[in-house]
Order: sequence, then C-alpha cells, then structure tokens
Amino acid sequence: MSWKFKQLLFALLGGFALNLVLLVHSQDDQSGFISIDCGLQTDSSYTEKTTGLNYISDATFIDTGESKSILLGDRDDYLQPYWYVRCFPEGVRNCYKINVTRGNKYLIRASFVYGNYDGQDKIPEFELHLGPDLWDTVSFRSASGAGTHKELIHVPPRNYIHVCLVNTDSGVPFISAIELRPLSNESYQTVRESSLALVSRYDTGQGANSRSYRYPFDIYDRFWTSYHDFDNYWTQLNTSSTIGSESNNHYQLPSVVMSTAATPKNPSDHSLRIILPPNINAEYCSYLHFAELERADPNQSRLQQIILNGKLIYGAFAPPYLHTYTIFSASGLNTFGQYNISITRAKNSTLPPILNAFEIYMVKNFSEAETNQEDVDAITNIKATHKIKRNWQGDPCSPQLYSWEGLNCRLHKTNQQHRIISLNLSSSALTGEIAHFISNLTMIETLDLSNNNLTGSIPDFLSTLPNLSVLNLEKNNLTGSVPFGLIQRRNDGLLSLSLCENPNLSDSQQISCELKKKRNISSHVALYLLEFLFLLSAVLTVLTVLAVVFGMGFKRKRQHEMMKNFKPNSLLECEGQRFAYSEIVKITNDFASIIGRGGFGKVYLGTLKNETKVAVKLLNSSSRQGSKEFKNEVELLMRAHHRNLVSLVGYCNEGETMALVYEYVANGNLQKHLSADVTQDVLTWKERLEIAVDAARGLEYMHNGCKPPIVHRDLKTSNILLNEKLQAKIADFGLSKVLSTESATHVSTAAKGTFGYLDPQYCSTGRLNKKSDVYSFGIVLLELITGRAAIARDEEDVPIHICQWMCPKFKSMEIESIVDSRLQGSYFNASARKAIEIAMACASSTAIQRPDITVVHNDLKECLEIEMPFEITEIVESDDASSSNSVTMTSHIESQTNTSSLGMLHEISNSLTYLVVEDAMAMACVSPNAIKRPTMSPVVVELKESLATEIAGTRQSHETELTNSIEIRSDSSMVILNPSVR
Ligand SMILES: *[C@@H]1O[C@H](CO)[C@@H](O)[C@H](O)[C@H]1NC(C)=O
Ligand SMILES: *[C@@H]1O[C@H](CO)[C@@H](O)[C@H](O)[C@H]1NC(C)=O
Ligand SMILES: *[C@@H]1O[C@H](CO)[C@@H](O)[C@H](O)[C@H]1NC(C)=O
Repeated sequence: MSWKFKQLLFALLGGFALNLVLLVHSQDDQSGFISIDCGLQTDSSYTEKTTGLNYISDATFIDTGESKSILLGDRDDYLQPYWYVRCFPEGVRNCYKINVTRGNKYLIRASFVYGNYDGQDKIPEFELHLGPDLWDTVSFRSASGAGTHKELIHVPPRNYIHVCLVNTDSGVPFISAIELRPLSNESYQTVRESSLALVSRYDTGQGANSRSYRYPFDIYDRFWTSYHDFDNYWTQLNTSSTIGSESNNHYQLPSVVMSTAATPKNPSDHSLRIILPPNINAEYCSYLHFAELERADPNQSRLQQIILNGKLIYGAFAPPYLHTYTIFSASGLNTFGQYNISITRAKNSTLPPILNAFEIYMVKNFSEAETNQEDVDAITNIKATHKIKRNWQGDPCSPQLYSWEGLNCRLHKTNQQHRIISLNLSSSALTGEIAHFISNLTMIETLDLSNNNLTGSIPDFLSTLPNLSVLNLEKNNLTGSVPFGLIQRRNDGLLSLSLCENPNLSDSQQISCELKKKRNISSHVALYLLEFLFLLSAVLTVLTVLAVVFGMGFKRKRQHEMMKNFKPNSLLECEGQRFAYSEIVKITNDFASIIGRGGFGKVYLGTLKNETKVAVKLLNSSSRQGSKEFKNEVELLMRAHHRNLVSLVGYCNEGETMALVYEYVANGNLQKHLSADVTQDVLTWKERLEIAVDAARGLEYMHNGCKPPIVHRDLKTSNILLNEKLQAKIADFGLSKVLSTESATHVSTAAKGTFGYLDPQYCSTGRLNKKSDVYSFGIVLLELITGRAAIARDEEDVPIHICQWMCPKFKSMEIESIVDSRLQGSYFNASARKAIEIAMACASSTAIQRPDITVVHNDLKECLEIEMPFEITEIVESDDASSSNSVTMTSHIESQTNTSSLGMLHEISNSLTYLVVEDAMAMACVSPNAIKRPTMSPVVVELKESLATEIAGTRQSHETELTNSIEIRSDSSMVILNPSVR
C-alpha cells in the first residue's frame, strides 16, 4: 500500500486518546455526513473509535456485489471501515446510488484497501465513475496491503449520485468505503462550477512522519498529511495559540494544521516552491492557506508574493496574525503543461516566506449528458414493479457503452438529455399486469414485452404514447379486449402491433398472427436465398481467383454500396487480385516513376492493361515490420470496401517481393493540401467540411459497418487521400486492428500510431478502442479547421500540439483566431463554431468523453448544411463510380515506422513521425492522461529527476534557487491562476 496512506491510518490510531477528548465537544458535527462501510453486514452500523464517525452498511445503496473481508492479520493496520470490501465479479458496471441534497457542495471520498481480500495477492485496476463520467482510474502500486483513495469536490445536480466501479478487464473491482461530507458552498470555488479531484493536500508545517489529521480536528473531515521530505528543505514555525478562521473564510482550516508553518531552512532562501510535473491534459486549481505565527517586531516584516510559472500573480501580502488567509487560483489561464508555484519573499520583506497548508486539485469538467429525470424515475419504477433481475445500475442511457441492457436511447441535443426510445423486456419472466409506469416513458417508440407471463388487460395508456410505433405483446397471458386506440393506430398504419399467442385475449386478433406467420415464412425463404447467394458468390470468388491466377486478366468490379455502405462479407467482392512479380514490373514500367516514399518502401505509379492508373507500394525486403503490416493491410482491405477507403486492386507476394496495388487517388494527401502556402490552392471551408464528412463516413464504416469492427490506429492527414473531385479516402491500414468480436470494446496492444495523433489514454493504458481513432480524427478535424499541423513549432522552435494551441482559444471561442486565416473569413460562424465543438469533443483526453464516429459524422453533415443552406448536401452522398476506376497523378505517402528505437521519437524527412512505444509505453507518451496517478498522496519528490523532466525552457532563472528550495512533484500538469482572496 501507499506508505503515506498507511502512515495516515497509523497516525490516526496514534491520536486515539486526544480524539476521545475532543469528541465530547463535537458530537453533533456529523450532520449531513454519509459514512458508508462497503461490504459491512446488512443493517449493521458502528461508531469508529478514533474518529467517532458513524458508519453504516452499504447494503441499502446497491443490490449487487459480494461482501468480503481483508485478511485478519492486516486488520490491525487499518481503521475499521477498511476491514470489509464489496467486490464485483459480475457485471461491467456496478453503481452505488446515494441520496444527497441537490445543489449542495460535497467532498466525496472513495477508499480502496485491497488487503488481499480474495487471497489472490494480485491487485486489480479498474475505473471509478461518477454518474456517466469517468472520475479516475483506480490502481495500486503493489499487492501487499495496497490502498488508495480518491476525493472529489462536487455539486450534485440531482438529489442522488451514482458512484460506479467499472471493470476494464484488469481484475475484479472492489471498494472499501464511501464518505460524503457537505462543504460550504462558498468554499472551493471554481470558474465554471467544475468539479475538483484531489491531487494533493498537505499540512506543510509538519516535519516528516508527523501525525496526520482528519475529523474531528477538521470539521469537513479532509485528510491532512505531513510532507515526507520536509526535513531536507524546510523548517517549522509554530505557535501554541489557536488559529481562528476569519469569519469570511469558508475553508474552516483546523487550528492544529494552521498552527505550524513551513519556511525555508536556510533563511537566505527567498522562496518555497511547489512543482507539478508537466501534463498538458490537466488543469489545476490550488488553494494556499497562510497564517502568521510570530508576532511582528516593529522592525520586521513578512511580505510575500505568489509566482506562477515565473509570473507574479498575487501580492505582496502579509499573512494575518493567527488567522487563516486563503489564496486560491480558480481556473482560467492555461499554462501548457506546467504548474510551478513559488511563494517568494517580497523585496522589502525582512522575513522569509511561510506556508501553512495547501491543496491542489485537478479540474474535472463532467459533461456527459444524463438521462431525463422522468425517464429515470419511470424505468426505475418499472424495474421495481416487475422485479427485473438485470444489471440495471447507474444512469440508464449514459454513457452509451454501459447503457442498460434492453434500452435504446436518443440524445436530445438542445437540452442535453438522453430519452428512452425503446424498451425490450422480451423473455424476462415478467408476471402480473403491465406496469403503468411505462406510461411515463413518454418518448418511447418500441416496446417489446413478448414471451413473458403478463396477465390482466392491455392498458389503455399504451394508445396514448405519442411515438409508439412498435408494440409486441405476443406470447403472454393477457386477457380482455384490445384498447380501441391501439387498433385504430394500427389501422392507420402508425403502429405495428403483435398480440399472438395470448390465448385468453378476446377479439379476433389472430388475424395479425396469421399474417405474421406468413411473413416469417417469406423471410425464411429470403434467408435461404441469401445463404445460397453467399455460397454462389464464394464459388464465384474461387473461380475468379483461379481465373486471375491463370492470367486471364483483371477486371475491376464496380463497387456497389449496400445498405449504408455496408458489405456484410467481403467475399462477395473479389478485390484481391494477385499479381506476379513480372506483372508488377510491367505495370510500373520497370519502376519508372516514384510518386511517394515511406517507411518501408517506395510507391510507384503504374498502369494496368486496361489503362487504369494504380499506385504500387513496394516493400523493402529487409523490413520485417513492414512485412507484418503488409499482410495486415491485405487482409483488412480484402474485408473492407467503401468509397471513402482507398481500395486495393491487388497485391504481389512472390519470393522476396511484396507489393500492394491500390487505386490511384489523383489529388495527393490532405496534409499536402493543408500545408499549401500558395493562396489560390487553399481548400475552401466547404471543401474542408466535405473532406471531413467523407473521412468520418469511411471511419464510421470501419467502426460500425464492418463486423467485427476495425480500428484504423493511424489516422492522420497524410493518410487521407483526395481524388480529383476532392473526395476523401482513408489509406494505409498497416497498423489497423480488428476487434475480436462485434461487442469487444477494446484490444490491449502496444501503443502505436503517429505522434500528435495518438490518443493519450490509449498511450497510457495500451487499450485500443474505436475512440482512439475518434481522437485522431479530432486532430485531423482541428487541422482542417485551423490549417495548422498537429504539431507545429512556435517562434522559439518549441513544438506545440494543436490541442495545446486550441485550448485557450476554445475556452473563449475566438472563432476568427482559430479558423485558418487563409480562408479570409469566408465561412459561416455557426458552421465553424459547430465544427470546432465537434473537433474538441473528439480530441477529449478520455475516451468516454469522445462521441461515437456515427454521431460525429451526422454532426459534420449538419455543419455542412449550415454552410450551404441552399445547396443539396446529398452531393456528398452521391455514388461515384468514376473515382474508383480512376485515373491520375498522385503521391501515396507511406507512414514511417521506426522499429529501432523504442520509446523514442523518430523524425524523418517527410515529417511523418512515428512513436513506437512497446516497452516504455506510458513513459514515452507525451501527454499521458493522468490516470496512472500514484496512490493516496501522489506527491513524489525527487528533486533531480524533476529537474530533468521539466519542460525545456521554463526553468532558467530559478535553477540555482531550486537546489536549495522545496520542490513538490505530483504527476499532473497544466494550470490556471486567477487569484482571489478570502
Ligand atoms: C433515496 O430517496 C428516495 C426518494 O426520495 C427514497 O425512495 C429512497 O428510499 C432513498 N434511499 C435511501 C437509501 O435512503
Ligand atoms: C513594501 O513595498 C510595497 C510595494 O513595493 C509597499 O506597498 C509596502 O508598503 C512596503 N512595505 C514595507 C513594510 O515597507
Ligand atoms: C407520471 O407522469 C405523470 C404526468 O407527467 C405524473 O403526474 C406522475 O407523477 C408520473 N408518475 C411517476 C411514477 O413518475
């Protein structure tokens, strides 16, 4: 377990006697506290001895999971609330529902002490969600006595919260305790009413290994720990007086914490420093607490200033004598990866600076839409009435990945709420009458209650549900007559109604059954027919391949788009012509014309016998990596056919020669177009949107059209090719991965891709899913919008990621300064704004915040509609046979692979850069999501190391000073400071 955590728990035990004395005075302070001991026997409760806190069993807050106990021998190390855990071997997401006061600010703490409860001695890793949003990933450093906790300051918008544990295939999730403490709404203010996740909280005036404090010392039950490297750099000031809170200080700092302060050990040092390691995805808030402990001599003064990243942001000020003075930084400024605070002696101050305590939080913008409250109430009541035994927990619709089985929902864009539009409770052993709560699902379109034991009559309210278009009640035991309203709606063609096999239903409803049976038969026939066609086509495929092998020449089939561009089986199409080496020589006219160069070979222009131009990618025989990717690409392209994916004409695999023959795409890659500085060649806004829609459609086909889905893994502007009509086609599937099954959400794999486009979460977890592509797509979209490269260099040659560049501009929505200035303002603001929002959603740092590509595709089409209200947007949907047979002159640029240097960035001449991070995966990622945060107190101080890892160019003037002042490192970054005083 984290040593700090253990230390805290021990320390709390050590404070036993003192606590009891204090308890006498603070018996009633727990009002509003919710202290849940997870896994404790149902209906049990107790008063924890050292804190006097009253804990209750979690049984009333959750209906799944199993109660387990940590090893008896380990109990001595922990307070009682950690003796039991609730673990969740079943279900992907399990949620606690806890009643709270809506609109009140809470400190929410979830604690996890593994204690080898399962005897496996193997620590799991899983996700912690608050409602539909990812709060943090729970991981542990080591198996022996692993423990950690997560804290959040949050204002619940509803009168309950869901605390969910999500299984990510890395062990069984479990939890030890959940604690809620109401805070003053005036405390911990943030600019956008964001939530705050605790990064670190220190009682800075305490020497290493001093005791820690919580309730009852702290009426909000915050944990205050000492800083373990204190003695090396700092020295203590203290007082025996009580430190009062100014009446307007809402932070209610415990006197015992405030009565000690840190000051530099060497009085000639000018500053105390707090340094967080760089993390461009994080935005921080800090709360610094000061109180003067020494009565000022008339000749002495203590004046200090607060400096953030080298800039003065507050001061000079003198901490008030024996009173808490809190300075906080609400969010606002973005400091790109750094957060270094110094408390510095002001020029005319005679005394060195002090700091009594501080807290650092990471800003969390929980933005996932929740389900409409009426729908939640209705479905919850339906669940209770019919005693539904499904893993129905947490928000019913959100996030989509964990939505309740049997529900379909639609996101209502204007009020950002999910509505339930279909409910499937078929074959769920339902009994009794149809629950009247169904009438409160007012947006429902499809209701399937078939194959249950429902009795009673068919309720009238079903005919009043305005959108109901499919109602299936067959195979039940319903009685009475069918409501007239339903029959009428069916007769009007508004409702598909199935009532068969309800033997006691009066009326002659059997007609519909007869009809239905017939339809079933005919659909069976259709199925057989399909199977036959499939077999036939398979045979044809074999024949065609044979024909090809026997040199009967090649005829390209025209691609037909079936249902939403989806071809159920690639064998229907014979794309994979196999060429002999001699043919490749002929096609390329003995490799006469090079049109591209890449990591594992050159690309040549070729012409087939029928005059069709092709691009031939020839693999270096020496590249083993290339050969793997070559095979991958052939296999994938044989499976995937879509007009927005570059199509494979054939391949050659003869002896040492491996070559891929593609359709020739006339206009080169998107990167080339975007970097064009010749003004007349600049893509217009409309063209950019069309390209974005095309690429999104291609990706949508890969993700949602292909079964099983394909993740591209290397989407970037240089892999998007444009034909002569500027229609976009996604190319280069060398790194693509097929998800094992349709329902698989991810594959675990080494992080590969291109620097700048690589999903930070994938990078840090190695878990690849569709959303990793959505991230890359977001970057492509940002490039289309801004005309900037994914990674551009500023005037000082410092590389800046496009997200970094966007962040501050996005916050204030400076459309003009975001959109490519080469467009000279010729676009609709509404269209640009929407495109920017889509791009930023795609480029969110966590997968859960990114929309599905289908949503992205639809939203982009809407953007296009805004842009050209009088044109027919269907243009982009038009079939285009010409391009597939086409013609032209193009560059087919290859991605560059660097197999030699693990974890290193490798740049090559065409500026495509690959990050291959097999072993040193998370380490090498540039902007890893801060989810691998160290346990409990993530502050890890390693002065030298921090100096080494600090972002270049930001530490110049402080370097000498640093060696003898304090540095605190935790593992996150990016900041804000708009100081305010309380
Ligand atoms: C939470 O509140 C709801 C509605 O106010 C109530 O029905 C339910 O019993 C409460 N749950 C608990 C665990 O107190
Ligand atoms: C120190 O300087 C600041 C401004 O530079 C001034 O406001 C303050 O009064 C000075 N304090 C003393 C004690 O001289
Ligand atoms: C169902 O909706 C009606 C009308 O909106 C409302 O009066 C009623 O309280 C709702 N019932 C439940 C159980 O939510």
